[in-house]
Amino acid sequence: MSDTPDRPTSPEPKPDDRLDHALRPRSLDELIGQGNVKENLRILIAAARHRKEALDHVLFYGPPGLGKTTLSHILANEMGVNLKVTAGPAIERAGDLAAILTNLRAGDMLFIDEVHRLGRAVEEVLYPAMEDFALDIVIGKGPSARSIRLKLPRFTVIGATTRLALVTAPLRARFGAVYRLEYYDLSAMEEIITRAAEKLNVPAETAGILELARRARGTPRVALRLLRRARDYAQVRGEGTITQEIAVQAMELLNVDALGLDDMDRRVLRTIIEKYNGGPVGLSTIAASISEEPDTIMDVVEPYLLQLGFLERTSQGRMATRRAYEHLGIPHPQAEQGRLL
Ligand SMILES: Nc1ncnc2c1ncn2[C@@H]1O[C@H](COP(=O)(O)OP(=O)(O)OP(=O)(O)O)[C@@H](O)[C@H]1O
Ligand SMILES: [Mg+2]
Repeated sequence: MSDTPDRPTSPEPKPDDRLDHALRPRSLDELIGQGNVKENLRILIAAARHRKEALDHVLFYGPPGLGKTTLSHILANEMGVNLKVTAGPAIERAGDLAAILTNLRAGDMLFIDEVHRLGRAVEEVLYPAMEDFALDIVIGKGPSARSIRLKLPRFTVIGATTRLALVTAPLRARFGAVYRLEYYDLSAMEEIITRAAEKLNVPAETAGILELARRARGTPRVALRLLRRARDYAQVRGEGTITQEIAVQAMELLNVDALGLDDMDRRVLRTIIEKYNGGPVGLSTIAASISEEPDTIMDVVEPYLLQLGFLERTSQGRMATRRAYEHLGIPHPQAEQGRLL
């Protein structure tokens, strides 16, 4: 299972996923953006190589689609070692993890996606494995039960999560390096789209690429998806080239606005504003109102709205800011009263 795609829990990869796989940068040099994380990783790698040791355990966190899985593969490539891929929900019992661990060879990397979803019993096997490279196994039952300690080869755990807060403190403490991935700036997005268009042989004008980059929410996965849809649109409705006009039209058809907000983002904001007078309102209430999973809203919708300053998180719940009202063209109730949010 060394080459499963992003989500080992999901069924067959879709064609688009396979395409993403082909577009995935293979080395730190190829990876655009994330300058700070890259710099840190270069030092980590160089030092481990110099000492001829396995890399320290690394944890990546941040919103979906920013490159956590990509970076894990890059780390393995750069270190020239095997990467075994698994995910928190896929390791159901402690024995499943023990089986994975005993199959590792020295230097191997174990990528655990959604590491915040590991069960307690599984985590407890992982602690000594990460810390002492040891596996404690209980043999027998009742009074005659005894525990033996198996030595494991030196290996590296690469964890990824969209929810750092849900990673338990003891697990978090066992990662020697913890990196937060940030949203990409506009020029990085432009470069990512330009390179992907080249690789896909899609003719695209600079102005067309810029339109897509602006709407890509600072997220490479979104950028690649918008590029594919713009390519389709250019082929069917245009001459095959992604011009500015084609890009704008394609995005309008997808209901992706100038800031990259889509239907779900707008539904969340409108619900807070129109049903709950701008908030504060709890996440689960919002989710129920628009029939979406709270997790989806929390992982996918909220981080970007927070980043744009459209949403505020208070102890009582979520609130829409004045900027959100302005963007949606809804008059702000307190504007007339002269009180600022
Ligand atoms: N810096 C980058 N340059 C170019 N492409 C990138 C970059 N980062 C990510 N990508 C592309 O974006 C897509 C999503 O990246 P990736 O799967 O690594 O995200 P992730 O953080 O693991 O997301 P999730 O939290 O959903 O698992 C991939 O197809 C990858 O090729
Ligand atoms: Mg991933």
